[in-house]
Formats: sequence, structure tokens, C-alpha cells
Amino acid sequence: RLRVLSGIQPTADSFHLGNYLGALQQWVLLQDTHEAYYMVVDLHAITVEQDPKVLRQRTRVSAAQLLALGVDPERSALFVQSQVPEHAQLSWVLECLTGFGEASRMTQFKDKAARQGTDHASVGLFTYPVLMAADILIYQADAVPVGEDQRQHLELTRNLAQRFNQRFGKALTVPEPHIVKGTAKIYDLQDPAVKMSKSASSPNGIIELLDEPKRSAKKIRSAVTDTGREIVFDPEQKAGVSNLLTIYSALDGRTIPELEAAYAGKGYGDLKKDLAEVLVEFVTPFQERVKSYLDDLAELDKVLARGAERARSVAAETLALVYDRVGFLPPG
Ligand code: TYM
Repeated sequence: RLRVLSGIQPTADSFHLGNYLGALQQWVLLQDTHEAYYMVVDLHAITVEQDPKVLRQRTRVSAAQLLALGVDPERSALFVQSQVPEHAQLSWVLECLTGFGEASRMTQFKDKAARQGTDHASVGLFTYPVLMAADILIYQADAVPVGEDQRQHLELTRNLAQRFNQRFGKALTVPEPHIVKGTAKIYDLQDPAVKMSKSASSPNGIIELLDEPKRSAKKIRSAVTDTGREIVFDPEQKAGVSNLLTIYSALDGRTIPELEAAYAGKGYGDLKKDLAEVLVEFVTPFQERVKSYLDDLAELDKVLARGAERARSVAAETLALVYDRVGFLPPG
């Protein structure tokens, strides 16, 4: 069976709709066909300042959300990144294969560093994409389900795998990005020119899955639409309506042409009202499931520990191979 690996940061109180439609929906689907490794990336989270108590809480809430969305810990290894120390160990080796200029060209780093100022941005933020490469390569993953914003990091990962293989002999699988065209970039509801994001979106532009369903419904109903009145998918001319159609289709299963046909002759208000209802029907039972996972933290931690154990058995194997190829002595 082919392997998939992906991760999500525990840096907000809730996942947002972009996370779900761009990536997590694929995580769930790929379990049917792949051997899956899914993790909450707390090592990545501390590249920017975190309050320890809040981080621990958000890590658990993240895991509960993944379970509630359908990640099945019987089939997939679900774990927390810091509980598998091999990621950080492989990362060091890969850092030594990464050019300073190459890392400096990562656009997410440039954006975040610009926002924080170079004196405040950490070295961890700079090496963040290399740790991400280690996350992927240590499982010899064949595919990595992510949104469009991770494409450049995947390209770096592929380059590092190829470079390692060239220098030390084939040892690492070169992974393919699994980026689903239709949903790889969900846009801000108030500004459909930019992606929905926890750091940049205005409160009304982002739908948080754990937010009060009524509030989310209101955000959908007040989403920015476009001039004109026809409900057609046209991302150039009608970015707002097209984004709503993308979200609608991904949540409800109907294709975009089917939705266009269903809304022929109707207005933007009808579309938004119906989508708001679809969203409420999705998040309400989701939130109940999250709550039940969080009601038993001992069990949740046990599930994660089991996931980490499974992950470690694979990760340790790759690390041993890499250390040997690099020329380190065998463990004493
Ligand atoms: P993170 O935590 O920022 O986001 C998690 C996933 O959500 C996707 N995403 C979106 N997709 C569509 N539209 C949006 N508006 C949107 N916003 C976010 C992201 O592309 C991502 O797939 N570096 C990663 C975490 C990571 C990782 C890994 C991923 C660490 N190690 C190894 C894959 C493999 C990140 O910060 O994702």
C-alpha cells in the first residue's frame, strides 16, 4: 500500500473551513486507499511564541477535531509530532543539505518574517520547511495531502530527497503533493482575493469549525458577493460567488454545474441562506463529537500514544538508514 503523511498546526482554538476543505477532507478519504500517518505538529507551532498551557490544550483540541472529522485511529497512525523524536533528528541532517539561499526563498518564511521583523523572527521559523521535509521523508511517504499554500514546501521536500539520494545512494522516497484543484485554496469570505487564514483573515472572513454555528451562518449570509446577479462559477469575474460555490459543493457533494443549475434564476441571498444551513448541519454534530472526545482526555492521550508508537517504528527505521548512509557510527 502507498503511504500518505500530513500535518496540521495546533496554533488556533479551532480549525477553519480552509483547513478542512483544502486538506483534512482528503486526509479522511485517503485512509481508504493508503497507509496513513497524520499528526498535530506542535514542534512547528513553537516557531512562533506559544503559551505552554494554551499549546497543550490546543494540541488536544486539534487531535479531537481530527477524530471528529473522521480520522480513524484504528486504520491510521494519529499522533503528536513531538512524541516522535526522530522528526527533529532527521531534520538536522536535512538542514545540513539545505542551502541558506534556498531556505531564504521560501515565501511563507519571507511573509512571516516580514510581519514579525527579522530581529523577532526565530531561526526555527527559518528552518520550519526543513522540519516539514523531515516529517514527510521519515515515513517514506508517497503522497502528501495539503492545500495550495504548501506547494513550495513540497517542492523543497522533493529536492532534499533527491539530493540525499544522489549524494548517499537511494534511501528516501520522493513524495508527490496531493493538492486537489477545486478546493486547494478557500478564500476569505470578506476579501475573496486572499486565502482564508487564521493569521490574516478578518473575524468575519474566516469560518472556524468550533465557533457558534449561528455566528458562522451569519458570516456566510454576509459574505461579500459580486456585482451582477447570476450564480455562475467564474473565479475571475465573480470571486466571491465562486468561493461560495466551491464551499457549497465540497460540503454537500453536488458538483458545481449541478449547483449552478439548481440556482438558475435565483439570487445571491438564496444561495447564501442555503449554504448557511448546510454549514450548520455540518458543524453541529461535528462539535458534539469533538466535545465527547474531549470529555475523556485519558482515552484521547492513550489514542495519541498508540499512534506515536506506530509512527516511531517506521520513523526509527528511516532514521537508522539515514544515519548509516551519512557515516555515523552504529548506536552503541
Ligand atoms: P497549516 O496548519 O497552516 O494548515 C493545515 C492544512 O490546511 C491547508 N490550508 C488551506 N487549504 C485551502 N484553503 C485555505 N485557505 C487553507 N488554509 C490552510 C494547508 O495547506 C494545510 O494543508 N506546514 C503545514 C503543517 C505541516 C505539514 C507537515 C503538512 C507540518 N509538517 C508535513 C504536510 C506534511 C502547515 O502549516 O499547515
